[in-house]
Amino acid sequence: MTEASIYHALLIGWFALAAVTFIALFFITAPYGRHGGRARGPSVPSRLGWLIMESPSVLVFVVCYEIGRPGLVAWIFFLLWQLHYVHRAWLFPFRLRAPARPMPLYVVGSAFFFTTVNGYLNARWLTALGPGYSRAWLADPRFLVGVALFLFGFAVNQHADRVLFSLRRPGESGYKIPHGGLYRFVSCPNYLGEILEWCGWALATWSLAGLAFALWTIANLVPRARAHHRWYRTTFSEYPAERRAVVPFVY
Ligand SMILES: NC(=O)c1ccc[n+]([C@@H]2O[C@H](COP(=O)([O-])OP(=O)(O)OC[C@H]3O[C@@H](n4cnc5c(N)ncnc54)[C@H](OP(=O)(O)O)[C@@H]3O)[C@@H](O)[C@H]2O)c1
Repeated sequence: MTEASIYHALLIGWFALAAVTFIALFFITAPYGRHGGRARGPSVPSRLGWLIMESPSVLVFVVCYEIGRPGLVAWIFFLLWQLHYVHRAWLFPFRLRAPARPMPLYVVGSAFFFTTVNGYLNARWLTALGPGYSRAWLADPRFLVGVALFLFGFAVNQHADRVLFSLRRPGESGYKIPHGGLYRFVSCPNYLGEILEWCGWALATWSLAGLAFALWTIANLVPRARAHHRWYRTTFSEYPAERRAVVPFVY
């Protein structure tokens, strides 16, 4: 068996698992953050949880780039990926206002598994198992629109998370209604931004690994946005009625 045949089998399983996850998460809300009250079993403080579960995204990419044959375009993808993941793994955890909130170990473990496989599938495609990208790809509309969408999504995600962090003073752990930016339209613009980012990534890389990641992000975040949205509406009687969960004017 070659690595390429294992890779393709893994990719098919990965698409199937994303579909199962999407359906399952409409019935089970991952028990962390505001939905963590029903969690059972061992847990770790959320700051440590985020560090553990997101670090493979950074490290697996570094290892795959070290052992692969990345060209110029692959290095641009490396920069985009690390722009997101160095922040998510190593800066975001230190911005949390309630870093001691317990996060179940099985949530951390399943996310660790996800980021490891996802990093492998994307980085190996870009540096070894894909056909490679010529420099002409830099002028291809899929690359240009995809990168623009990625950067726009990144900005939306960053802004939305900054608004959430600003709602708590140091030491506070309660919840308030967020306002400003895309909160005018949806309850979870951070999730919307994240979905746009990885749809942009799928377009710019024009790869099945990128598409699988975009679908996984939708599978994780659309049901969670629905749960957040319902929670806001039942918790705050004055919650803006016109707000949708994650897609402005639609859902
Ligand atoms: N690619 C993926 O599949 C994926 C999956 C999950 C998350 N993410 C990304 O990871 C980031 C964090 O995700 P998350 O699920 O933790 O997002 P979240 O539920 O929106 O929470 C983000 C942070 O803001 C705090 N917060 C949320 N709403 C608040 C409110 N109304 N008032 C005060 N503080 C509030 C949360 O505190 P508490 O923790 O105390 O609730 C948490 O520290 C997001 O940018 C998301 O896009 C990506």
